[in-house]
Amino acid sequence: MPRYWNEVGLEFTTSNEAAVRAFDQSIRSYATFRRDIGEHLKATFAADPNMVMAHVLKGYFFHYMGMRPLIAKAEKCLADAEAASIGCSPRERNHIEALRVWCKGDYRAAIDIWERTLLEYPRDFLALKLANYLHFYIGDSANVRDSVARVLRAWDHAMPGYALVRSLYAFGLQENGALAEAESIARASLETDPLDGWAVHTLAHVMEAQDRHEEGIAFLSGCEAHWDSGNNFRYHLWWHRALFHVDLQQYDAALELYDQRLWDAKSDEYLDLCNDASLLLRLELADVNVGDRWPALFEKVKSRVDDHIFCFVDAHMMMALAAQDPAAADSMLASLRDQAMRGHNTTAAVTREIGYAVCQAIAAHRIGDFASVVKLLTSNRYRIRAIGGSNTQRDIFFQLLVDAAVRNKQYALAQALLSEYMARRPHNGWAARIHHRAEI
Ligand SMILES: [Fe+2]
Repeated sequence: MPRYWNEVGLEFTTSNEAAVRAFDQSIRSYATFRRDIGEHLKATFAADPNMVMAHVLKGYFFHYMGMRPLIAKAEKCLADAEAASIGCSPRERNHIEALRVWCKGDYRAAIDIWERTLLEYPRDFLALKLANYLHFYIGDSANVRDSVARVLRAWDHAMPGYALVRSLYAFGLQENGALAEAESIARASLETDPLDGWAVHTLAHVMEAQDRHEEGIAFLSGCEAHWDSGNNFRYHLWWHRALFHVDLQQYDAALELYDQRLWDAKSDEYLDLCNDASLLLRLELADVNVGDRWPALFEKVKSRVDDHIFCFVDAHMMMALAAQDPAAADSMLASLRDQAMRGHNTTAAVTREIGYAVCQAIAAHRIGDFASVVKLLTSNRYRIRAIGGSNTQRDIFFQLLVDAAVRNKQYALAQALLSEYMARRPHNGWAARIHHRAEI
């Protein structure tokens, strides 16, 4: 089979170089949150309908959408990749195997294959990006940073994609508390490419972790002009901006952002649903009336009770289900119990370990069973990381715990938790306000 090489020296089994260029552009679009990912993938297939890595990439993208019905489509891509695999390289075979285990929901096995691939091919950006993605959703923050660190020496600034690799590293640094270094690298990435949404996102996280709210709003406002050409990830950036407003008690601004920017009636992308649920719950925890916004979100999530792609997503679905219909929350809990008992994949294991308890706590909070919330979340606090997501996103569970402790009149616990939080974040508005309530 003919072989062609991409810009950073990776070999592809394909009939022509145009397919490799279009393939790389698909990945570049994916990594920079553009809307033209599908167009570039189509161009790849147009150049070579039998390119094995194109079939694999298409399968990966179906998984990336995070919807159970799309797994069958990913399996079809796996079959197509296998059919096209005669004569393919060991690296390409690794990707087929990674797609195979991803189809089974074995995220840890997929990560192992990508990490093994990166030892020999540290400039395999797709392997790096996807390993980073699943490290994030199994709550392995150390590897969100270190997986990228292990390949840094194989990249230099003259290589296409170098700034994107550095941006991945910056995000990993901030998730592990190295905020100044993360900020420095993310700003350097933005100088190279002002459209680097991951660098913008990293800076939003840094500013949130340091409670630099006004600066965060100004920074994100300054970047927004670039987002119109971006994909739905821009909603997550607006979610970050809304968090700054919430902490400043600018609740009308946060609700306006929800209505004008975050809410997309047509979207069923899981991250959008998580953004929406998380913001509404945070607003309610701040005693803000969110009006009739939950029912519309409920309509989107009610059919996804049995999805169980990531525990992080299940927990956010539960927020919307419990807010609107206790029976739907009960159905979700029953589905999670079934998943925990019968499932053999990574998410089933995390559901058993912690995901079910988190969803129980969310449902209990909604029906006013605050003692149960305290019991469930106190004993499991340090295991919640395993459901995945970022520190900022998982803060909602800490807020739920403290809110429940206050409502259950467990003031000593609430004050102790807030003391812990404020030692790290002395300028946090939410903590100061609820600390005042806990002292009453
Ligand atoms: Fe984020």
